[in-house]
Parts: sequence; C-alpha cells; structure tokens
Amino acid sequence: MNLQIGRLSQKMALLSRCYSSGVVKPKTGVLLLNMGGPQNIDQVRDYLHRIMTDRDMIQLPFQWMGPWIAKRRTPEVQKKYQEIGGGSPILKWTNLQGELMCKELDKISPDTAPHKHYVGFRYVNPLTENTLDQIEEDAPERVVIFSQYPQYSCATSGSSFNSIYHHYRHRDFPKHIKWSVIDRWATNPLLVKTFADNIRKELNQFPEDQRKDVIILFSAHSLPLRAVNRGDSYPSEVGATVALVMDELKMCNPYSLVWQSKVGPLPWLEPFTDDAIKGYVKQGKKNFVIVPIAFVNEHIETLHELDIEYCHELAEEVGAEKIRRAAAPNDHPLFINALSDIVSKHLKSNERITEKFTMRCPKCTNPRCDESKKWYKALFRQ
Ligand code: FES
Repeated sequence: MNLQIGRLSQKMALLSRCYSSGVVKPKTGVLLLNMGGPQNIDQVRDYLHRIMTDRDMIQLPFQWMGPWIAKRRTPEVQKKYQEIGGGSPILKWTNLQGELMCKELDKISPDTAPHKHYVGFRYVNPLTENTLDQIEEDAPERVVIFSQYPQYSCATSGSSFNSIYHHYRHRDFPKHIKWSVIDRWATNPLLVKTFADNIRKELNQFPEDQRKDVIILFSAHSLPLRAVNRGDSYPSEVGATVALVMDELKMCNPYSLVWQSKVGPLPWLEPFTDDAIKGYVKQGKKNFVIVPIAFVNEHIETLHELDIEYCHELAEEVGAEKIRRAAAPNDHPLFINALSDIVSKHLKSNERITEKFTMRCPKCTNPRCDESKKWYKALFRQ
C-alpha cells in the first residue's frame, strides 16, 4: 500500500514539473468535483464537521448534533487515517487523473485546448468555492463541471452541485465563461471495461480450479433508506454499472451488489458488505473479490474498510479462505481514456445540462434542491 502511494507521489512530481515548465492560459477548464479526504490527521475534525453539517449529505434532527458527532468521532477516524499512512490519497489521485486526462484531451480535442483541470472538494481543501475563485482568475473560455461520482446521488454529486449554486447565490455569476455540467456517467463503456479489467486481474490470482466459484461482491457506499425512498437515483445507477461490468465479463462468476460504510442508527440500504461475506461463508463459499464499484480512486473506504477490516480482519474472523480487492480505477489507462472520452464528447455535443439533471427526486422536500435546480436551468440553458 505504501509502495503504491510512493509511486503515485513520484508520478505527480514528474507531471507537475512538466506542467510548470510553461504557464499557458487554459482555453477549457475541467472542474473535478468530489467529496475529498483529509490529507493529514489534523484536518480530520474540520472534515467531519463539514460532512455532519451538510444538510444535503445528512439530515440530523437537531442542529447541535452535527458538530457533536464530528467531535466525538474525530479520534476514531484519525486512528483509521493513521493506519492507512496518515491521510487520504484522494487529492493526489484526483490531480494525477486530471493531469493525465488533460494531456489526452489536448491531443484528441485540439480545438478546445489547452485544457486545465481544477479540483473542487466538498469537505476539505481545495474547497470548491476557493477553486471557483481560481477559475474566475484564470478566465478560461469554457468550464466543464465534471462530477467524479459516476453514479449520481443527491447526497454526493447533488451536494457538490448545490454548493456551487450556494457560492454564487449572492454574487455575480461569471457569465463570460461558458459553463456546462457532466452529472453522471455510470454506463460509460470505458469505465465498464476498466472495472472488468481490474476484476479479471484479481480472479487470475486464484488457482484455476477454484476461480469459477469466486464470488464477485460489488460494494458501493450505502445510503439511508429515507434517501432511497425519496427516489434518489444512486441505487439504480450503481445497478446499471454492475450489470454492464458483468456483461463485459460474460457473466463469468457468481456476483452480488452489496453496500458498505453505514453510519448512525437509522436504517440504510442493505445487504451490508460484511454481512454478505458472513452469509456466503455460512453457505459454504470461501473466496471473494470485492469491487469498489462507486469509487474512482483509493480512499479510506477502500484502504481501510475493505482492505483492513474485510479482506483481513473479517476474513480471519469468519474463516474465509481468500478475500481479494480489485483496485479502484485510479490511473488505469482505460479509465484515463474514459475521462477524456466523456469530456471530449461533451464538449463536441454543446450540451450544457441534461434534462435529468434539472429534475428533482419525486419526493424531494429540500428547498435548496429546488433553488439550485432553478438556478442551473436559468443560467445554463441560455
Ligand atoms: Fe434529490 Fe432534492 S433530494 S433532488
């Protein structure tokens, strides 16, 4: 794991040396949205505070509860970050993905070059609001706001898009820049091929006579049932990715879609990943490949929850023979092609927002969603 992070740092240093050798004004900016992760343990408390007080992400019954939970959980979460090397690698991965994507875009879409990526995190630096200021300073002709969650949820992508609306609510929106949105890409064929390739690599680590029986567990971050019942499209979009990946793999193995990372006492979407492993072991299954199907880079849920808690601790506890984990897409060449393919097609299409993006969940009662969707419709459909 540390070797992997070391290689990532080397690649980043090389790329930033190439980039800083000539300062070129970008014609097209690509703003990569994600939740982010603390880069060191000192950032954990602020990071948790922002998550727990984000009403789009989590709806607690009392306002005081968010800061209280954040404070209470800080030591436990800091310990987890210590155990994966002292911080989240998500910024390094996102920057590497952005640099590689823009290099590719400069080649395949010369009309919109030079391209520059920007990172907009929801809960930790670089915060989206600060990055928007940076974009305005650079003043590219176009900016594509590109959610890095392939499957759309109002708690993740929706929260990031709402925060952009919130940032501009009481200030002038830079209309001289042409803005557009890529909000979901769960069925992109190159994304599907990336997952399939990473799964094949893990299946090949099992002896040939056992390979066919290995259960592929697609694991995605769970969602409170309240959000699911509001009509959040995330579960169906995750299901769409899973179906296409299994199609690409020609249904080579038994598989199941399971959900991880539940927090708090309220009911969340099940079956949970650890319960699924326990259940299948009871049914006599011994070997698994876990696939983080809704994460595009490594972070705490892959490096700690999946690798340490499930692949090692839980495997030992329940007597599973082997639980392997497929890598997140990271800098897989097919994944970089997926990112550049999605953006270049989007730029060519001239589409600024999709009809789906302007819709609210059927049972949404969040006034922020209403205001935000109206704002995007008014400004992005011009
Ligand atoms: Fe989905 Fe508001 S909760 S649009």
